[in-house]
Amino acid sequence: MGFFDAIKRWRLAQKGLSSGKKRRIHSENALVQALEDSIWVKISLYATFAVGSGVLVLRASPDTTFALDPIKGALYGFIIAIMAIVMFQVSLQASCRRNSRVVLVLGGVIVHLMVVRLIMGLADLGTIPEIFRFFFVPFALAPMLHGVLLGRAVGAFSAIYVTLIGCLLVPQSEVLPFMILSMVGGISCVLLTNQVRKRSQLLRTGIYVGLITLLLGIILGRLDVISIFGTDSIIQLQLLAMGSGAAVGTAVLTALIISGLLPIFEGLFHLTTDISWLELSDLNHKLLRQMQLEAPGTFHHSLVVAALAEAAAENVQANAPMCRVCAYFHDVGKLKKPGYFIENQTDGVENPHDTLTPTMSALIIIAHVKDGIDLAVKYKLNPRIIDVIQEHHGDSLVYYFYRRAQDQKRTELEKVDRGLENPEDLPVVEEKNFRYPGTRPSTRESGIIALADSIESASRSLQKPTPSKIRALVDEIVRSKINDGQLDDCPLTLRELAIVKDSFSNTLRSMLHSRIDYPKDDSQAAKRLSNNERSDANAGGQVIPMPKRA
Ligand SMILES: [Fe+2]
Ligand SMILES: [Fe+2]
Repeated sequence: MGFFDAIKRWRLAQKGLSSGKKRRIHSENALVQALEDSIWVKISLYATFAVGSGVLVLRASPDTTFALDPIKGALYGFIIAIMAIVMFQVSLQASCRRNSRVVLVLGGVIVHLMVVRLIMGLADLGTIPEIFRFFFVPFALAPMLHGVLLGRAVGAFSAIYVTLIGCLLVPQSEVLPFMILSMVGGISCVLLTNQVRKRSQLLRTGIYVGLITLLLGIILGRLDVISIFGTDSIIQLQLLAMGSGAAVGTAVLTALIISGLLPIFEGLFHLTTDISWLELSDLNHKLLRQMQLEAPGTFHHSLVVAALAEAAAENVQANAPMCRVCAYFHDVGKLKKPGYFIENQTDGVENPHDTLTPTMSALIIIAHVKDGIDLAVKYKLNPRIIDVIQEHHGDSLVYYFYRRAQDQKRTELEKVDRGLENPEDLPVVEEKNFRYPGTRPSTRESGIIALADSIESASRSLQKPTPSKIRALVDEIVRSKINDGQLDDCPLTLRELAIVKDSFSNTLRSMLHSRIDYPKDDSQAAKRLSNNERSDANAGGQVIPMPKRA
């Protein structure tokens, strides 16, 4: 197919109908997508998890609760696994939509349980001192991995189910201590790794979880601290040192292994952790450096959009580091024709749009989305960045050139009325030709960036900004986006939108601080605004309301 496409492009290029280049697009492999969405694959994964849990209990140590009746034990394991699947399906919808996530979560739980079984086996063989067997269990393994990669809820899910099924794998007399250690260790690990942004934080979490395990071990009588003051204090001290080393060492080693494996998991499961987003936010990326030199206006605009979006995302608990990185790259497509975008035009230099028809101008402006995707695919940017490039204008209207085209048509129409022009020469102005191709923002982060983008662009023309003018501008932009249906596919709630608007106003106010003109009766104006008594004049005439979609 590729070969025939190339010949077709070459023939069109010969006729002058094509540039001969192929635009890169971002799409998933069809087979991978089918496997990701297949309900049968999902059912098979669930069945494997449930049966696997049962088999693990069946093969447990001879001194476990169901040692005399292993079939009954396996059945208990199977039932708890079914409960886990039901909980997973009901409350973790977002995580289980893709089958690869199911593999990551349920596979992680099974691997964690296999490690528990292995440690119990080694303790039975005497390789590990029996009294310390729990200090060698990596309680943080699945909860930390899932918490960092998929969020707190999935981490807590892992902590609960590795504990419940794990209870069937430990000696009968040790069920309660294991339950407490595993649950407290797992949950505290999830809480400590919430929004972890540096690898060193993972290591710190490992140390804390190790210390918590040690403390609980002492409380539960696994280590006898008092007897170190007794007669055989040397032996007791040795035991204490060994136990402490095992507890902290195991937890730290678990954190180190997870930290090392994270990039592999991120690549395999198409996930990006906050740690990676922070690493990606380096402004020295080749494309950003090029933007700084060739499109300095766009570069500055992207930095401001990043600041606005990051602060707003932080306030609604959306992914703030992701917002920052995606905002840096959202207008990267403008690099193809930087001079055609207002932020890169300088006074005294001719505006290239002056010599173009409005339709042609709109085409060039709209093309920056596809050019951006093309560049992002070429430079192998993160797929979430590509989604934001695709969605940041939704299918909105390039209003300025649409209005100019209508004005031109009106002038031509007057000429026709006066008999100066042939009616057949009238230009056709269709709204759809002035709209971006879409798609509309589909995530909260994408929606926040789309809003921040429009607000930053509009704020540049704000004359003598005052806090109330800024607030009115933010309100107007958000309202026009909603009216145009641009946020219809975005999961931002009205409450979140209100918080986002507050955040935008505050950030913009601090950014425009040097330009802000504080009028004496500003508090009155703000009061009037909050009472919805605002007249359109308060908007400062800065925002052109978008036409409502038909
Ligand atoms: Fe843009
Ligand atoms: Fe932009």
